[in-house]
Amino acid sequence: MFILVTGANGQLGKSIKNLVDQQKKSHSFVFVTRDQLDLSSTSSIQNYFETHKFDLIINCAAYTLVDNAENYQEEADMINHIAVMKIAEIAKSNNIKLIHISTDFVFDGLKHKPYFESDASSPLNIYGKTKLKGENAILSIMKFNAMIIRTSWLYSEYGNNFVATILRLSQKSSNLNIVSDQIGTPTFARDLGQAILDIIKSDKFNVFKKKSEIYHYSNEGKCSRYDFAKEILRISNAKCTISPINTEDYPTAAKRPKLTVMSKEKISKEFDLKIISWKESLKYCMNNLSTPSTLNKD
Ligand SMILES: NC(=O)c1ccc[n+]([C@@H]2O[C@H](COP(=O)([O-])OP(=O)(O)OC[C@H]3O[C@@H](n4cnc5c(N)ncnc54)[C@H](OP(=O)(O)O)[C@@H]3O)[C@@H](O)[C@H]2O)c1
Repeated sequence: MFILVTGANGQLGKSIKNLVDQQKKSHSFVFVTRDQLDLSSTSSIQNYFETHKFDLIINCAAYTLVDNAENYQEEADMINHIAVMKIAEIAKSNNIKLIHISTDFVFDGLKHKPYFESDASSPLNIYGKTKLKGENAILSIMKFNAMIIRTSWLYSEYGNNFVATILRLSQKSSNLNIVSDQIGTPTFARDLGQAILDIIKSDKFNVFKKKSEIYHYSNEGKCSRYDFAKEILRISNAKCTISPINTEDYPTAAKRPKLTVMSKEKISKEFDLKIISWKESLKYCMNNLSTPSTLNKD
């Protein structure tokens, strides 16, 4: 298969590239950044696919600035919805398979139990709304050959993410106040990347005209943002203390759902995936980040 991966400079794009570079290649991968394929214009998307041919697109590119999206709705809608619609149209007319990444922020967080793929979505913020419109565009254009994978609280060794932020703040402050009433599941981008690579090798993915569907993927378990930060500080042996606060005490431009733990039963059963606990993956990621001597190896 000739495979295109968009968002090559992002957390997931970089993680997939790293895995592909380390493993025996059974497919040809092309990784593109914004410079090579700009999703902010449908004509640039059209032009790109007129001269480049693929069997599968893995769309990791997105407008991911959740708070900024409240003020830049048009930009967020362009990347997360209109560009996705264009990619789906091109994929359909050229028989290209599509794996698209979406988010737990399509849910309002009021279910109080793990979300299934079939649960109603009701995003609370612009980011979630534009991502949901992207999902719906794919499902209405591509009855077959598209797979939408919703993930949550993505972090990695790369770029700006919760782990990097907590480590940075822990070096500047003696105490951190972190919200304890937003519950979800962290996802190590490398684990999601490996799951995608396992999926594309599987017979179940490679069937002719596979029905387009939504799947959920995160690491195993659940925690609050406070628990997540506490574990980051523990592993890094940081000296600073941490206090739980409520969402109301930490106002942000975008409203966030309170509980978005997702069931991974569908994806793990269908593709025979072993999903690692969030604590184990966090430790692995942080071991790759810092000099091992500063880390707590427990
Ligand atoms: N991060 C999370 O916590 C989280 C949670 C749930 C779901 N997700 C979803 O998971 C996927 C991967 O997220 P991530 O954390 O890897 O995102 P990320 O690190 O923010 O990377 C997104 C990539 O998209 C690229 N991009 C943005 N606008 C573009 C444009 N106009 N044209 C081409 N490329 C453009 C960015 O390019 P530049 O590098 O040039 O800016 C960036 O490399 C996304 O679909 C996201 O919605 C993320």
